[in-house]
Amino acid sequence: MIKLRILAVSVVLLLASAAIDGSAQNAQLASPGIDARVESLLKQMTLEEKIGQTVQYSAGFATGPSASNLTYDELVAKGSIGSMLNVVGAERTNHFQHIAMEKSRLHIPIIFGLDVIHGHRTTFPVPLAIASTWDTAAAETVARVSAEEARADGIDWVFSPMVDISRDARWGRIIESNGEDPFLSSALARAWVKGYQQSDLSKPDSVAACVKHFAAYGAVIAGRDYNAVDMSELTLRQVYLKPYHAAVEAGVATVMTSFNSLNGVPTTADPFLQTQILRKEWGFNGFVVSDWGAVGELKNHAIGDGPTVARKALEAGTDMDMEGNLYATDLAGQIRSGKIPESVIDEAVRRILRVKFALGLFDHPFTAVSPAYTPTPERRAIARKVADETMVLLKNDPVSGSAALLPLSPSLKTVALIGPMADDALNLQGAWTVTGDPKNVITLKAALSKRLGDKLLYARGCGLLSPEDSAALRGVTFTGTTSGPSAPVLDGQQAIAQAVEAARKADVAILALGEPTNWMEGEAASRTTLGFTGAQQQLLEAVVATGKPIVLVVLAARPLELKWAAKHVPAILQAWSPGIEAGPAVEDVLFGDVNPSGKLPLSFPRAVGQEPLYYAQNPNGRPANGDLSRMPHNAQEKMVSRYMDEENSALFPFGWGLSYTRFSYSQPTIDHAEIPMHEVTQNHQPVVTVSVDVKNIGSLAGTEVAQLYIRNTSASVEQPLRELKGFSRITLAPGETKHVTFPLGFDELNFYNAGLKKTVEPTTYDIWVGGSSLATAATTLKIIE
Ligand code: BGC
Repeated sequence: MIKLRILAVSVVLLLASAAIDGSAQNAQLASPGIDARVESLLKQMTLEEKIGQTVQYSAGFATGPSASNLTYDELVAKGSIGSMLNVVGAERTNHFQHIAMEKSRLHIPIIFGLDVIHGHRTTFPVPLAIASTWDTAAAETVARVSAEEARADGIDWVFSPMVDISRDARWGRIIESNGEDPFLSSALARAWVKGYQQSDLSKPDSVAACVKHFAAYGAVIAGRDYNAVDMSELTLRQVYLKPYHAAVEAGVATVMTSFNSLNGVPTTADPFLQTQILRKEWGFNGFVVSDWGAVGELKNHAIGDGPTVARKALEAGTDMDMEGNLYATDLAGQIRSGKIPESVIDEAVRRILRVKFALGLFDHPFTAVSPAYTPTPERRAIARKVADETMVLLKNDPVSGSAALLPLSPSLKTVALIGPMADDALNLQGAWTVTGDPKNVITLKAALSKRLGDKLLYARGCGLLSPEDSAALRGVTFTGTTSGPSAPVLDGQQAIAQAVEAARKADVAILALGEPTNWMEGEAASRTTLGFTGAQQQLLEAVVATGKPIVLVVLAARPLELKWAAKHVPAILQAWSPGIEAGPAVEDVLFGDVNPSGKLPLSFPRAVGQEPLYYAQNPNGRPANGDLSRMPHNAQEKMVSRYMDEENSALFPFGWGLSYTRFSYSQPTIDHAEIPMHEVTQNHQPVVTVSVDVKNIGSLAGTEVAQLYIRNTSASVEQPLRELKGFSRITLAPGETKHVTFPLGFDELNFYNAGLKKTVEPTTYDIWVGGSSLATAATTLKIIE
């Protein structure tokens, strides 16, 4: 009997991320009960019905080029569509589901997928911002709320998390990622999957997650979206594959291929990735979907005509064709002629059906229509708490010899709020939200007006884009239906003069600057410069010239070049794209209601020419200044690895983030300074524990992210100068000390040797613990024969 799916909506702020039982999740997909149902259905299916299961169409709006324009009702009735994306809302999904369940011969439900990237109806900060919380429980909570809201809208499957290691700030999609580090990104990947899927896909408020984009999409050459990727298998395994693997271990039900080629093979047609690594090595037993149109785009990669590329993708292990429109047309003949064995399509169909059964779609295919969404106070509270945690205080200097500028004093008489991001709901919401509604966003201007009333002076100062930028972007077409930012904003000396005037009248000026998120962040939004867009830099310099104390709030979800600001502005808050609670969250931190605790999940460059920039660099034979490319270089040094016109180091390094209090770290200790190699085995058990005491030596309560880094000082294959291998978020009252421990075992100490085997060798590890990747408190661990 077909029942309505009733949602038990229970949003709780998850306090701790429980250990994830990935094997249980995978076992669910492989359960004998499900297998029996899959096999019995498969036996009844015609070849056309099998192929239908591998076909996905977008039947709402387009999130990629050349949307198909087909008669979906008919196709669903014929069993020619297995999945749809961009169909949102229970009325819409039920419409197609009724056709599938009642008119198609075998009554196989459609699985509805959607890009739920940083919340569904409730828009949270973008994923890169969430990564800067270093709080896996926060990521899990965001995923949980998103899953509940998505499922209430008829969505069974979300195209998230995106875990592409992102080390190049030119690449717009960096905002969707967890940043540059495999250890941090893996921890977050597990949390996102757990939040979406819980430990049971069949729960009425679980959705299937989709880890993407497999693989190494973040390493596109020159940071240009969709470009090729070329990297050694060693780096691939050591760095880039780790977060995808973590998601698979956490039981992720589906994987999405990427647009790029990897070492000459487009990933969508790469059996090494989809079959060898994903299925054989990692034991993944969900299904793989192509990225939008990626099967069709294999023709542009020039590896064959339509039938050839359809065959290559399917045989490689890409089970579902998203909007590529090739599986639908180019497989049947080849299977009938024996060119593609029928067992290949059977296997793809099995994998897809397994997920549909595990989600309970056959038993509960429909969704109860729920009332129109308005953000509840509970959800707003969660969004605000998460946004609070994402804020990274980059700089907070004293102003004219007195206390640090932030938090702002309650006795300020007049505050100027200046800048194009201050009241821009759409851009504060952040890029890449399908269902987020800017009307729900509380802007900085709204929040600060509420707090300060007449004490607040506001001046926009300039637009986010110059007229030239605007004109250029209006020429850009995305799907053929959209044609660029609707309202070009004119900058002018007059607008800047008004802002300067407001700053002059105020005790302090808050500058809210950023990037036009929907045009310069996210997919197809690569840049060759990383400065503020439009006249914002000019505005900043003009306001700084007033000599008034300035707080710069950076509302951009990628690292911008902040070199000028870092020199001339006393306080800088990196606020990313905070979502619906943007204004209140920025207000919380500026006025000290919340002590900032965010830490950068990637390195901020001094200049765009440093990109790709990341802390875990390998050593070289001519390190600058005799140091490991980490310290400012000595201007006398010529024949060393350095830039002639810039420091090597980041402006703000990975792991960086200040607080309104200060923390001190004791000398770390290790319970065994030497360990025989045979004790370091692949049993996931720690072999040593590093401990440190962290003390709050300031006068305010605060949260610190204690970070542990290692360096393998002598290995058969050169190893990075530092690698994150542990972190812990701790909250300390003034004067309080907490003892923090970091377990280390094979999982943390191993590396891939030249034979691409994970190994630990006799060596000494340098170990540092501290509040950023510049940590200096050190100990060592020796691995002996
Ligand atoms: C993006 C994916 C997304 C898909 C579906 C593609 O253009 O690369 O991340 O999930 O579209 O909208």
